[in-house]
Amino acid sequence: IDQYAVIGHPIEHSKSPRIHAAFAKATSQRMSYEALLAPLDGLEKTWVELRARGGRGANITVPFKQEALALCDQLSERAQQAGAVNTLSVMSDGQVRGDNTDGAGLVRDIAENAGWSLAGQRVLLLGAGGAAAGVVGPLLAAGVAHLCIANRTLAKADRLALAFAGLGSMSTVANSELERANDSVSYDVIINATSASLQGKTIALHDSWYRASSAVYDMMYGFDTVFLAWAREQNISRRRDGLGMLVEQAAEAFYLWRGVRPETQSLLASLRAELS
Ligand code: ATR
Repeated sequence: IDQYAVIGHPIEHSKSPRIHAAFAKATSQRMSYEALLAPLDGLEKTWVELRARGGRGANITVPFKQEALALCDQLSERAQQAGAVNTLSVMSDGQVRGDNTDGAGLVRDIAENAGWSLAGQRVLLLGAGGAAAGVVGPLLAAGVAHLCIANRTLAKADRLALAFAGLGSMSTVANSELERANDSVSYDVIINATSASLQGKTIALHDSWYRASSAVYDMMYGFDTVFLAWAREQNISRRRDGLGMLVEQAAEAFYLWRGVRPETQSLLASLRAELS
């Protein structure tokens, strides 16, 4: 039977085995999917061992997404753009293909599950690390009117925007500027791709950067983030955490491996019920 795994460090709290087991059951795919803890210097060894016992693919998570590029014989365009791989697939000729389904997962969760439009909208992306890099290409491809990347370290936002130059209308801003009045138009969709929530920190936004009708997304999930709490206090009613992105990036990986697209709504609803 075809074997798959998620490889990370730490890995014990990963929901991916559960998600892929549900997908496999719903689509009658014979496969197994396990969580593998790789030592911090042992990504390649863990992958080679999985392959040796019939591994057909793997999801790669923190902190290995960039390092996983080196395991691939070929890369999808979105993995190349993101500079990170979250899905490895063994092709029929034995070559390893690296892809990145994180951005597609975010776009699908926002545009389809939440029903917030992205096309033609002004989007403010907070963060310029690995998580942000993975979603810039797919957000631009979704047809946003303008994408502004804000980061504590402005140089990192500039570097990220430069990597996507020519693919859409983009600008950058330092987080410190977000505390002051925005001299242009406010943003329709604000996405937090920083790890600030993990430290219980939020990012301060002057009220000229958003409206009560704006939509606020935090890629973190599983706890009430300070950022979403702040949005609630601003009477922003459209708020969403990253649980749907997690399920959708998994569905996209499952589709790459098995050629079938699993239904995600019922699983997302039950995961959400468990977490609340
Ligand atoms: P990830 O893969 O989760 O994106 P990362 O590559 O280390 O992790 O990036 C973390 C992001 O969160 C960065 O944009 C970081 O800002 P800097 O580039 O200036 O470091 C941002 N970040 C982390 N803690 C933050 C905080 N307390 N306030 C604002 N931004 C923060």
